[in-house]
Order: sequence, then structure tokens, then C-alpha cells
Amino acid sequence: MKSYYIYTYGCQMNTADSERLSHQLEMVGYIPTEEVETADLIILNTCAVRETAETKVFGRIGELKRLKQKNKDLIIAITGCMAQKNQADMFKRAPHIDIVLGTHNIQHINEMIDEVQRTHQHQINVDMDNTVLPELKAKPNGTFFAWVPIMNGCNKFCTYCIVPHVRGREISRPVEAIVKEVTELGAKGFKEITLLGQNVNSYGLDFKNGTDFGTLVDALDGIPGIERIRYMTSHPQDMTKSMIDALGRSSNIVTHLHLPIQSGSNRILQKMNRHYTVEHYKELLEYCRKTIKDVVVTTDIIVGFPGETDDDFAETLQLLKDVRYDMAYTFIYSKRSGTPAATMDEQVPEEVKRVRLQQLMDVQNEISLDLNKEMENHVFDIIVEGPSAKDETMWFGRTSGNKMVLFPKDESLAVGMTVPVYIDKAQTWVCYGTIQKR
Ligand code: SAH
Ligand code: SF4
Ligand code: F3S
Repeated sequence: MKSYYIYTYGCQMNTADSERLSHQLEMVGYIPTEEVETADLIILNTCAVRETAETKVFGRIGELKRLKQKNKDLIIAITGCMAQKNQADMFKRAPHIDIVLGTHNIQHINEMIDEVQRTHQHQINVDMDNTVLPELKAKPNGTFFAWVPIMNGCNKFCTYCIVPHVRGREISRPVEAIVKEVTELGAKGFKEITLLGQNVNSYGLDFKNGTDFGTLVDALDGIPGIERIRYMTSHPQDMTKSMIDALGRSSNIVTHLHLPIQSGSNRILQKMNRHYTVEHYKELLEYCRKTIKDVVVTTDIIVGFPGETDDDFAETLQLLKDVRYDMAYTFIYSKRSGTPAATMDEQVPEEVKRVRLQQLMDVQNEISLDLNKEMENHVFDIIVEGPSAKDETMWFGRTSGNKMVLFPKDESLAVGMTVPVYIDKAQTWVCYGTIQKR
């Protein structure tokens, strides 16, 4: 029996791809292992969104050289966005790699492995000519939640972002294929799914037949067993009122909305090629808050985009205070070669970026805490996910709004159960609660 080990970096799209790689490997007899030292196949499913992501992977690839020296038959495969970005250069930087497999080609993993075994030569497939997404089965890691990719690629070309370059143009999966997968998941006992796309609000537009994200949301409503449908990521440009109406009327769409703004300055948003203004964004959000009951809103923000002045940054801080996000994922702008922003003038010094990031986090943390405090002394339904990594006596779960709640372990609980929990104490990142007996 041959064993495999997968390291997954980057976003949920990669997690979903890893589960699809696992399924294919297990179909030909590979078994998963926790011991990278003795694995016969090691896959690094990589991310290229920021330089730090790539540095991490190169570090790991370097460490694997030792294993390859010990075991000449070990196969090392690099998949994902960094494989797509760097292509054959990966072999130059690290000749001990065997396979470079791009983002459109994970359905070919087994053939590539066979070729390596037959020829003992480097194998590469970074073609990006898919026009239809391959329907690949997954081996879900969880027992009650699963990732469901609804599209791949991105047509937006934000000037800082590598994703459109490494994932290609938007290709949507047909509504029927998604409904079928979700129905099967529901029948198998899965309760929570997350619909994945770089920009879910442009889902279906490539069919040019009137299908959009709202169509999909409606089609997924009421599938037996599916209690919660998460979705990410939303983009303010393509999010329409009719989609928000669909989110509002759905019985299983969650109350969490992740709506990245990136900057609070219209000048910077324009340089980022985001295609909306702060005013439009706020209007949209107001409609969401009116339409989706108890919506919990989170965002992404980049600090230190080229040309960002103190005034631009002050506008971002002000935006946080105006909007009051439940949480903001904050990033220091990272130069990605090949993107327009990489060659823009007025790159912001690292030190300035770091100071801005800290300021942003300080403002946001206070708001997050305030909003979490409003949850205290109220009861929320959570789905039990399992023991907390830090404290074995505590378990955790999430609310529909994606708030993490910790509570004392209780023998009557099992992973995947939906239970009401009374929030006793809120912190910035988590809440502590007590399970209510029904
Ligand atoms: N498609 C999604 C998210 C893509 S990547 C969207 O449009 O929101 C996730 C986040 O990484 C982005 O929202 C952005 O905030 C950040 N990001 C992308 N490229 C970056 C870069 N070059 N430097 C820093 N952060 C970046
Ligand atoms: Fe990147 Fe912009 Fe596409 Fe998101 S919408 S993946 S940030 S190009
Ligand atoms: Fe990274 Fe690719 Fe996702 S670049 S963030 S893994 S789409």
C-alpha cells in the first residue's frame, strides 16, 4: 500500500482541491498518512497570493530534499497557484520536485504519477485551456461540513492580485451539478456546506442565459438535511439587490456575509481596479442589513497599496468606524510580479505599512469586541465542531454568523449536533457559552 501526505496552503479553494486530489489518489489505492517522513507521495498544494505564502512553500520544499535523498522513490508534487505561477521554474529552483501540476489540471494527478514512475523524469502540466470545470468527487475531511466549489477563476483583475493570472477566467459549474452534489451531501448526513468562488456574485454569468448567484441560492433552498449554506467570496461590484433578496429569503443561507472592501479611499479603490466607490459599497451594505436578518459582516482590507497616503489610510480607519464590521482580515500589500500594481510608483515603505496595519487592527479589535459583547446573555444555535485545539476540556462550534463559541465539554454532545448555547462572556475573537438543555 502506498501512502500520501498533502500540505494545503492558501484559501478554501485549495482546501477543496486537496479533497479532490485525495479522492483521486484513494481511488487508485493510496492511503492517507500523518507521517510525512514515510510517505510515498508528498503533495504541496500551494498559494501565491502574497510573497510570504510563497516563501513558506519554498522553505518546505527545501526541507523535503532530505526525504528525497533518503528515499529515491519518493514522489514530490507541487500543485496549486504557485505551480501555475512559476511553472517549469519550480524544477530549476528545486530539481528534487517530480511533478508540477497547474490549477486546471488536478484531474490528471494519477497519470502524472504513473509517468514519473515509468520515466523518472520531471512531469509538468500547466495548461489553462479548460472551458468546463471537471466534475471531480471529493473526500471530505469533515463529517458534517463540506466545501462545494461553484466556479473557478476570476475576471476582475484587481491591480494587486495574482489570482486571475493563476486561476484563469471564470468558469461556473452548472446549477444542476451543484444541486446534485449538495443533495447527495445532505443525504449522507452533511449539514453545512460552503459554496466557493473567488467572486460568487458573478456565478453563472458565463452561461449568458440569465443564470446568476440568486438563481443558485434559490435552487439550493430546502435541500433535505442541509441546515447551513455558507458562501464566499462576495464582490461589491457584481452583488445585485435581487441576489441579496435571494439571500434574505433563503431558509438555509447563513447570516454571515464576507464582503471585502480593500480600502476606504475612492482614489485607492480606483487604482486597485475595484469598480465601486465607498458610497456604493455602503449603500449595498445598508440593503444587506435591511434584507438579511441579523447579518454578520466581515471584510478584507489591504494597507500600503502603492500611493496610499496618510489621508487615504485615515479614510480606511474612518470606514471601519462607520461600518462596524464584526471582523476584518487585514493584509499588508505584497508586490506580485506580473500585476500592474507591482510597477506602480510610490510603493509604500515596509515600516509605514506595518504601523498602518497595527493601527487598523487596534481600531478593529475594539469594534469586534463591542459587537461580540452584544451577544452576551443571548442564545444562539451552534453546530458542534469538536474539541478546542488549545484546551481539551472545551469544545467549540460556530453560529450561523460564523462566530466561534467555546463551551465546556459535555458527554451528551457529538460532533455535528445543532444545539442552543447561551453566551456568558465575549472576547475579541471568541465567545464563551453554556449549552442549553432543550
Ligand atoms: N476573491 C476574493 C479574495 C481573494 S484573495 C476577493 O476579491 O475578495 C483574499 C484577499 O487577499 C483579498 O481580498 C485581498 O485583501 C488580499 N490580497 C490579494 N492580493 C494581495 C496582495 N498582493 N497583497 C496583499 N493582500 C492581497
Ligand atoms: Fe483577486 Fe480581485 Fe479577483 Fe478577488 S476579485 S480574486 S482580489 S482579482
Ligand atoms: Fe492563494 Fe490561489 Fe487561493 S493564490 S488565496 S490559493 S486562489
